[in-house]
Formats: sequence, C-alpha cells, structure tokens
Amino acid sequence: MQELVFRPGTAADVDRLVEIHLSAYPDPRSLAARRRRFESPPFGHPDCVVVAERQGIIVGHALSLRMELAALGQWLPVTGVATIGVAPEARGQGVASLLVRHVEAQAAARGDLACVLYPFRQGFYARLGYAPASAYKRVGFVPGAVPRGWALGSDTWLRGPGAVPHTQIEALYDGVAQQRLGALRRDALSWQSRYADERLQWLFAGVGDRLLGYATFSPENDEPHARTTALVGEICAVEPRIERGLWAALGAQRSQITRFDIDVADDDPLPLALTDPDADRHGTATLEHAYGVVCTGPMLKLLNPAALLARRGYLGEREIDLAIGADALHLTVREGRGTVTVSAPGAAAISLSSEALGALCVGGVRAQELWAQGALSCGPAEVGALDSVFAGPRYFSRDPF
Ligand SMILES: CC(C)(COP(=O)(O)OP(=O)(O)OC[C@H]1O[C@@H](n2cnc3c(N)ncnc32)[C@H](O)[C@@H]1OP(=O)(O)O)[C@@H](O)C(=O)NCCC(=O)NCCS
Repeated sequence: MQELVFRPGTAADVDRLVEIHLSAYPDPRSLAARRRRFESPPFGHPDCVVVAERQGIIVGHALSLRMELAALGQWLPVTGVATIGVAPEARGQGVASLLVRHVEAQAAARGDLACVLYPFRQGFYARLGYAPASAYKRVGFVPGAVPRGWALGSDTWLRGPGAVPHTQIEALYDGVAQQRLGALRRDALSWQSRYADERLQWLFAGVGDRLLGYATFSPENDEPHARTTALVGEICAVEPRIERGLWAALGAQRSQITRFDIDVADDDPLPLALTDPDADRHGTATLEHAYGVVCTGPMLKLLNPAALLARRGYLGEREIDLAIGADALHLTVREGRGTVTVSAPGAAAISLSSEALGALCVGGVRAQELWAQGALSCGPAEVGALDSVFAGPRYFSRDPF
C-alpha cells in the first residue's frame, strides 16, 4: 500500500470528510449535522479531527476526543476514539487500523491513560487490544410499575424547567458522576446540546435552595392522540432516597405515558423493585416476563497501566502483585488511593493481559467473571483478592460519543 500520512483536519477538508462520512454512516443525518461533527464535536479540541491521506487524497477520518472519565472519586484523562470512516475505495487495506493506532499514539504522548470507544463490531477492536467494559441494560417499564411509596417526602420540592440555574445542575452532575465508574465530565457543548433540546423534559428535586437531583425524559408519539412513550435521558441524584423520588415522579406521568425506556448500569438495583414492568406486553412460551435487553457497553484500552492504577479511586484496602505481560507491578491501596511500584521478580501470583487489566480496573468487569472466561492466571484465593481491590460500580456512561 502507498504510504499513509496522518495530519489534523482543517476547514478546507470538511467537504471531503463529509463525503466519506456519508458513505460510512448512511443514516438520515443532514449535511449540516455532519459538518458540525467535524467542526465542533462535543469533547473536541483544535486538533481533534485526524485525517488519513494517501498521495494528497483524504481516504479516512477519525475523531480523537479529550475526556475525563470518572473512576470512584477521580477524573481520569482519557481519549475517546470516534467517527472512524474510510472511503470505499480504500477499505480492507489497513487504513482504519492505522488510524486507530495513530490516535492512540497521540493520546499516549499527551499523557492520557486509556482510549475508550463504542465499537461498531467488537471483533475489529479486540484485534487492536481493546477489552469490553461491563454491559448495559435497557429496561422498559409501564409508569405504574414504580412503587408509589417512592414519592419524595413533603420536605422535598419537585420543580420543572427554569427552576434551577445551569451551574447548579452541572455541579450536581459532576459531584455524583465522579463517584461512579465510566461517567464523563461534560464539556460546555455536551450541556448545551441538552439545554437546547426543546423536547427534553426536566424534573428537579431539592430542599430549600439546594438541588438534590434531576431527571430528564423525552416523550414522543407518532401523531396527536397516539400512544405516548418516553426515553429517559438520565436520573442523577445525590442519594438513593432522591433517586427513588425521581423514579416516582416518572411514575406519576402514568396518565399520559404508557411506557418508559431507560438505560441503566448492569448493577442498577432499582429496576428490580418494579412491579409488573412489562404490563404493556405479553410473553412467549419460553420467556414469560421480559422487560429489558442487554447491550454491549464501550471498549477500552489502557495506555499506561501503572499510571492508571495510581490515579483511579478504590473502595477496598490491600496490597497485591500483578504480572501484566512482561511488567510486574506492586499495588498498595490505602484510603481509596493506589500506589504503584515495580514488583520483586516472581512476586506476582496473578498474571493477566493488559486487556484483562483494562476490563478489571476501568471496565467494571469482576475478577470472578474474567477468571471464569480464562482471562486470569491465578488461583481462586487471588480472584477474591482482586475483587476486593477492584470491585465497585459497573461501568456506565450516559454520554455516547
Ligand atoms: C469499518 C471500517 C472503518 C474499516 O476500515 P478499513 O480501513 O477497511 O479497515 P482495516 O483495513 O484496517 O481492517 C479491516 C479488517 O477489519 C475487518 N472488519 C471490517 N469491518 C468489520 C466488521 N463490520 N466486523 C468485523 N470485522 C470487520 C475486516 O474483515 C478486515 O479484517 P481482515 O484484515 O482480517 O480482512 C470501514 O469499513 C468503514 O468506514 N465502514 C463504515 C463506517 C464504520 O462502520 N465505522 C466504524 C465505526 S466505529
């Protein structure tokens, strides 16, 4: 193959980039929306568009997005890899693989700790060293399934849009999201796209002048008087009592909305408390009460395992030796933070690939699950030790990119 050159995209490239984008993503998006994707994407920065050029002709594009990803009280600098597209005449020649490698090298050079992406096919990225994070669930429920006892107490107000300044909404989100795993710190464009969405409904809960939680949802129907359903954008609350209250506020839409759909982390406990969530559907002979689907989450690749182990937050306290490929690391976890040193030779009783470590320490996958998949080389006692260090919330983000 003739030599590929990678460079930042410029304004003069946008027509050609949109042409390739149209061939790669032939959905109904307008040309203007496609231009915006290259000119001002959420999480973008001046050099975020990467073009692959061969003999002066652009043959592929990618976005290299700068993000901060929540990991139990810490924000980790990561790169989001997005919008990979290759011109039809250049496919099957390694262009996409080299584009991904180029974005990874740039990310590592600026000190980002991992790359994260939503795969069109997991197999393509698995070959490039990416591991799947834990799965998501989409739960569909009739509003009447929410326990009425979950309603907010009389000390807590529930208000509509305009009731709360944007700064308070964003501060609340940042505080809640940072304690989770996988949530992204939103930039101004991400927030603006939410505020500008005229169909998005907002519910706010608080006490006095303090905001304690909010929920968003998008009702839709095909024509006036037709059945109305709604996709929940998010429920964000400082404590479970408020989160339950916001679920109850969704339940109170029962006279209009016949069904809500909400994406939740694999370990979200609240859907388990719904009563007859599938009351608007029927089962089959072999599956009586399905009320959701399992969806693959994003994939990730560690760029600097030692630095990442030292930066993320932890719930447990422990010391552990890990052999990751040819590297041997000693991790000490105290008071929620990790310290990493080089292990003594032969000290590690646990050996795992960089992919397995990525799934474990950023992907929210349990050591027990990796062990069952044959991805850990160790005995059952070490599996328990790994889970006591790394187990925490499952990976989940409400910001696909
Ligand atoms: C997917 C795409 C980016 C691949 O570009 P490319 O330059 O042809 O990719 P590469 O040459 O680096 O790699 C091709 C390899 O990936 C594999 N591959 C391509 N599409 C695949 C798919 N949908 N599922 C699994 N593997 C796939 C090919 O089989 C090939 O493997 P081989 O080398 O063993 O034959 C290109 O086909 C494209 O632009 N598609 C439409 C847009 C898209 O889906 N983008 C990805 C969004 S994340």
